[in-house]
Amino acid sequence: MQVVNTIKQLRTLRATLAKNNKSVGLVPTMGYLHQGHLSLVREAKRKTDAVGVTIFVNPLQFGPTEDFTTYPRAMERDLDMLRSENVDFVFCPTPEEMYPTSETQQEAKRHLMLHTESRTWVQVEGMDELTREGSSRKGHFRGVATVVTKLFNIVQPDKAFFGQKDGMQCIVIKKMVNDLNVPVEIDICDTMREEDGLAMSSRNVYLNPQQRAIAPTLYRALQCAARSVHEGERRVSEIVRAAEEEIRRCEGLVLDYIVVSDMNAGVDLDRESRVEDNTHLMISGAMWNGKTRLIDNIVLQL
Ligand code: PAJ
Repeated sequence: MQVVNTIKQLRTLRATLAKNNKSVGLVPTMGYLHQGHLSLVREAKRKTDAVGVTIFVNPLQFGPTEDFTTYPRAMERDLDMLRSENVDFVFCPTPEEMYPTSETQQEAKRHLMLHTESRTWVQVEGMDELTREGSSRKGHFRGVATVVTKLFNIVQPDKAFFGQKDGMQCIVIKKMVNDLNVPVEIDICDTMREEDGLAMSSRNVYLNPQQRAIAPTLYRALQCAARSVHEGERRVSEIVRAAEEEIRRCEGLVLDYIVVSDMNAGVDLDRESRVEDNTHLMISGAMWNGKTRLIDNIVLQL
């Protein structure tokens, strides 16, 4: 397994793979790996000749009050896990490698209130206005779309693998790739869960035993909502109500939102609307469990 930190090294490595006609699969991550990440790696191993994983905690996608500095990091452990999966290469750049800073750009940076000399963003319009996940984390999806575009340009994968767990992120990336004709195939993989239903997440490490015990409530709530759709409920207000109550009932949890989204349109449905037949729906939710924000979703094809 080759571990590289610079874009130059990565490009050399990529050129060799191209010369040998190897198809390349990419799994972008922020590290602190768990079985959810490894399921993407295994899918990539099945579908491409050479698999690369990126480990980069991307400052651009964290809000000023979010957990960028405390986000869990365990590089050596992550590399061991990836070696066991026979991953071909790992790209783990420093923040400076991805977002260089220089003295000469100070003026532009001050003027534009940027943290780096980079002045280009990739933004899927409307995410912060038309989706609750976007409006709860303004600027987050712009940070994700920008770093994923950079990673695609650096690695030039044939296929890239993402987890359904971050449902809106999948929608954003597919839209960006489609709108900008990025030559990569996006593969979305199922959410991996703990035995009690909790979606695996690097952030689960923040939970103390009491918080961990009530964490599966989010998935249970989403299952309630999904069941109501299966039983014929079409009013969005009613679909989300049961799930909201499930979370509100549980002491220690604070509901952020439950929404139903049209996956093809990439927007949340109005609470007062009805779900139409033949739509690809996502019922998603976010809640605070102490200081930890957890998200999850269930996908339904009507
Ligand atoms: P991160 O949270 O590390 O997740 C990396 C990938 O693993 C994402 O595609 C995510 O959806 C997937 N994943 C996380 N938990 C999963 C689970 N329980 N089951 C299946 N897949 C799971 O998502 C990011 O990093 C970043 O936003 C990134 C795309 C790397 C851009 O910085």
